[in-house]
Amino acid sequence: MRQGATPETQAALAERYLRFAQIEAEGHSPLYTDWARHVAGSARALAFLGELPPDRRQPNLFFAALRLVGGLPRTEAAFDDVLTYKADAIAAVMRTRRTQTNEPGRCACLLPLLARLDGPLALIEVGASAGLCLLPDLYGYDWGRAWLDPPVGAGAPVFPCRVNDLAPLPVHHPEIVWRAGLDLAPPDLEDAGDVAWLEALVWPDQTDRLARLRQAVAVARQEPPPVVAGDLTRDLEALLAQAPADARLVVMHSAVLTYVSDPDARADFARLMRSRDLHWISNEAPGVFPDHAKGLTPRAGKFLMALDGHPIAWTGPHGQSLDWL
Ligand SMILES: C[S@@+](CC[C@H](N)C(=O)[O-])C[C@H]1O[C@@H](n2cnc3c(N)ncnc32)[C@H](O)[C@@H]1O
Repeated sequence: MRQGATPETQAALAERYLRFAQIEAEGHSPLYTDWARHVAGSARALAFLGELPPDRRQPNLFFAALRLVGGLPRTEAAFDDVLTYKADAIAAVMRTRRTQTNEPGRCACLLPLLARLDGPLALIEVGASAGLCLLPDLYGYDWGRAWLDPPVGAGAPVFPCRVNDLAPLPVHHPEIVWRAGLDLAPPDLEDAGDVAWLEALVWPDQTDRLARLRQAVAVARQEPPPVVAGDLTRDLEALLAQAPADARLVVMHSAVLTYVSDPDARADFARLMRSRDLHWISNEAPGVFPDHAKGLTPRAGKFLMALDGHPIAWTGPHGQSLDWL
């Protein structure tokens, strides 16, 4: 065993990968389920992970890096070969990249809420990744009982989303007159390596999702969403100050505050949101802001979308479902 991978570390990692297989991957990605189970039982893979810094050992990061470097090994032996011969390259990706899945499909849940606010809107997204969720007014939506065509015509993605009867579905896109994103390390959509990384973060069996991501990237290359580098716990006020005064300001975030692990920093962020004249849309796992979920029974695997601290809907984490409360 090499330095860094104590038996305790390996046991904890094995458990983490098994949990990932059972709770996150099963039913969504047969390949990732197999990979995670294999990793949990592989001393070589666990030793490899154990040498990385603790915050660089997540299944999503490992598997995306392995795919980027070594393609899609379909057998355990092929997986082991990639790890044996390309370990340094995989580790280099895992040390430099982050899990910053940009899922524009989440706009299928955000847009009905945005459309209910008095516009025109000025939209800020914190933790925006490449900013694809900053363009909800440029995509189309298929909510089953209602459909909204993309305004920019052919080529734009149409996001499918299962909705319940209570969900109010708009017949027009909201008017967004200004938009800005903030991210620790915004991927550059003109950089082939950054785009390849965003694509590698989409799970391998989800080919429709990947196709829609590519369509959204094409839209964003035409209408680049401005995303600045910065930390939402330090740099948001400067961005708030740039928003135009004659539009309703909305700050939103989706699958982001979970990465702000310091509870005081999260509480400070919530205080800032409440202290300003703006709307705050949070779309996160329900444990991220327990206040928003008070009195609700959590739904397994769902995010909670809240407006100004009040729960609005359970949402599929990739925007695949919207259950309005
Ligand atoms: C899972 S991605 C979600 C991206 C986007 N919100 C979406 O829904 O597609 C999380 C993003 O949050 C960013 N992030 C995490 N902590 C942050 C912080 N403290 N300040 C700014 N961005 C942060 C990461 O860099 C990453 O791009």
